[in-house]
Amino acid sequence: MLSSKRILLIIGGGIAAYKSLDLIRRLRERGAAVTPVLTRAAEEFVTPLSVSALAGEKAYRDLFDLTDEAEMGHIQLSRSADLLVVAPATADLMGKMAGGLANDLASTLLMATDTPVLCAPAMNVRMWEHPANRRNHAQLKADGVRFVGPNEGDMACGEYGPGRMSEPLEIVAAIEAQLGTGPLSGKRILVTSGPTHEPIDPVRYIANRSSGAQGTAVARALAALGAEVVFVTGPAQVPPPDGVTVVQVETAQQMSDAVDAALPVDAGVFAAAVADWRMATASDRKLKKSRDGLPALDFAENPDILKRVAHLETNRPALVVGFAAETDNVIEHATAKRARKGCDWIVANDVSPATGIMGGSENAVVLIAEDGAEEWPRMGKDDVAKRLAARIADALGQ
Ligand SMILES: Cc1cc2nc3c(=O)[nH]c(=O)nc-3n(C[C@H](O)[C@H](O)[C@H](O)COP(=O)(O)O)c2cc1C
Repeated sequence: MLSSKRILLIIGGGIAAYKSLDLIRRLRERGAAVTPVLTRAAEEFVTPLSVSALAGEKAYRDLFDLTDEAEMGHIQLSRSADLLVVAPATADLMGKMAGGLANDLASTLLMATDTPVLCAPAMNVRMWEHPANRRNHAQLKADGVRFVGPNEGDMACGEYGPGRMSEPLEIVAAIEAQLGTGPLSGKRILVTSGPTHEPIDPVRYIANRSSGAQGTAVARALAALGAEVVFVTGPAQVPPPDGVTVVQVETAQQMSDAVDAALPVDAGVFAAAVADWRMATASDRKLKKSRDGLPALDFAENPDILKRVAHLETNRPALVVGFAAETDNVIEHATAKRARKGCDWIVANDVSPATGIMGGSENAVVLIAEDGAEEWPRMGKDDVAKRLAARIADALGQ
């Protein structure tokens, strides 16, 4: 809930401005007060009348409006809110914010405040990927501005890719997380992700095909619901999410140590593809080709992190979630794995090559809990993560 919270909503001039009308409605349903501000360009997409009618407040538009200054000066306007939300955040607004420009009401409000700012970018995929926008995005993140989205998908301009504004309810969740009123606020959750690399010698290692995409999406989704996330990741192919504490590791042993250091937590989600074996003794020199034949590699078993945490007598998380990558008899094998590991839930997926799941953007999972198996339809890894995060929030909230 957002009762007694005041959001200053800056609406930029993009097609997605129509979604900001629904956003206002959703925020008010949750008890928030919304003070809307439209840029000049935003007025081409939504009318100040609709915006102020939905907000139940005046829609501010002009920096040099003597009446507005008499009612509430622009400095006071920018500071009276608990959070400034820019939705849609146009390429132009992001550029102004990153460059410190203040030549209209919206950009001046953003400069004149130290209140936290959350941006929901929306723009054509080429604009999103333009080097200037990439620089502005990085600068704003470094300045402490938080982001929700953009999402990947079909765009109003007919193209496909990242740049689509997050849906109003996703923005609401990000606002709740930012204001500490999300369903997972106050909960500390550990997520492991990515593969591990087990050195053979200084230049070679044993690895697996995990990209880290699913674990990263889970960490992002949990943070979006307000959780404090400790993200322990092996060498993944995707960057870690924003707004989480990242612990980079390489080997299973390092991951195990990092997990211990992160405890206690309310829940642990073990999505990493941890190597089962390492070299009994990794060579400290590069192994050379030899006329005497092939090198003999002696394996040793790695720590079973999931099983160990699930059996902890002190500091066992209230909810322990494992992931199982199976190539056949998914439900049967994953059910057996749940019992063997002693965890509460197993999220099982079929990673046989034909599914394209390992390294791909989609996942088809079965959630196995004490009361049986629940098959989820095939969906994007982000959607799997959001559904799992919502289930975790329900479980921890009980
Ligand atoms: C039909 C149309 C749609 C637009 N959609 C977007 C958009 O989604 N994102 C964006 O960054 N700019 C978009 N623009 C360009 C912005 O409106 C333009 O950069 C404007 O100066 C932004 O002003 P503002 O940042 O003050 O709102 C669009 C322009 C037109 C004509």
